[in-house]
Amino acid sequence: MAAFARGAKAWADNCARCHNMRDPKDLSDDQWKVVTTHMRLRAGLDGREVRDITVFLQGSN
Ligand code: HEC
Repeated sequence: MAAFARGAKAWADNCARCHNMRDPKDLSDDQWKVVTTHMRLRAGLDGREVRDITVFLQGSN
């Protein structure tokens, strides 16, 4: 649960900087895995941040 809560915050802090947030429900777990791997580079996230955000998104769809 800690990872989920951290991920929710990191998502809110980082993922609306360049474009609107996509609803977590829009994509499947596999699709979010691909997106967060790709957006990690764009957003300059560290490994824990991207893992936490992935936990949050996959737990919210
Ligand atoms: C530095 C700017 C930047 C940040 C920060 C960023 N993105 Fe993106 N994002 C982009 C760009 C540019 C594209 C489209 C081109 C591409 O896919 O690289 C994109 C595309 C997407 C897409 C696919 C397009 C769509 O709407 O279906 C999703 C989903 C997405 N981003 C989610 C995220 C998430 C989640 C985060 C936070 C981890 C994030 N983005 C952070 C720049 C950014």
